[in-house]
Amino acid sequence: MRTVYLNGDYLPENEASVSIFDRGFLMADGVYEVTSVLDGKLIDFDGHAVRLQRSLGALDMQNPISKEDLLEVHRELVRLNEIEEGMIYLQITRGAPNDRDFVFPDPDTTKPTIVLFTQNKPGLADNPAAQKGMKVISINDIRWGRRDIKTVQLLYPSMGKMMAKKAGADDAWMIEDGFVTEGTSNNAYIVKGNKIITRALSNDILHGITRAAVLRFAREAQMEVEERNFTIEEAKEADEAFITSASTFVMPVVQIDDAVLGQGVPGRVAPRLREIYLDESRKAAI
Ligand code: PDD
Repeated sequence: MRTVYLNGDYLPENEASVSIFDRGFLMADGVYEVTSVLDGKLIDFDGHAVRLQRSLGALDMQNPISKEDLLEVHRELVRLNEIEEGMIYLQITRGAPNDRDFVFPDPDTTKPTIVLFTQNKPGLADNPAAQKGMKVISINDIRWGRRDIKTVQLLYPSMGKMMAKKAGADDAWMIEDGFVTEGTSNNAYIVKGNKIITRALSNDILHGITRAAVLRFAREAQMEVEERNFTIEEAKEADEAFITSASTFVMPVVQIDDAVLGQGVPGRVAPRLREIYLDESRKAAI
């Protein structure tokens, strides 16, 4: 049984419970982060802590924990649950007032709820899907206008994954005004020649921590990077495509709807970026 963290306590998972009035439960009034663990160490902890603060700030929500203590909790959970490879999930909600109300509760009396738990995933880095490449379908992006805030309102992304599953695909890329925004839980990229193309940062997409690292490594390796919108048609004619996220790192995409990319197997750029990302991230893990 896992040991989880809830509001300052380390507890067996079946003893950790949250109020029915918690605004995370009633209103999806909460934010989250997913940090990966490789070799028992945290990948890009700093980036996740910074984005967490940004999400909380954008929602006028208090941060109940300092960055130092947050690092300590992450490490303690990795230790207690003996995680070599996997993820740490963190969620902070606006807490539990004693009734349902659209108005935010007084932060002096209603404290945020903070939960962290581990997800043990042996073989995360050696994921066979990286060899095969994944299939994605395209769906309309009907999410709200602040996708840069990492909130727990994940119903549409969840529906998108189900649409993909039904269609025999692995995930969905979302389209707005003809342009790809991002994957349901990852950032989206195409490759043309030696150029890596991905949508620029704005309120339309989540500012991926893996994205930032991958683009940095790509530039350091003298690869050309272009941050701009691309259409789904352009993606279907690309040489390669891939996604990035904390749980998939860099994952090649070999099919978009009915269009097979290249030879239908991962090309040259995405696997190379995956290798660089894993090597460099392991070196910098804490
Ligand atoms: N998802 N875009 C969306 C919509 C996401 O949900 C995520 C992450 C990303 C990639 O961000 P990062 O590189 O910081 O993981 C992009 C996480 C992994 C999840 O929901 O499980």
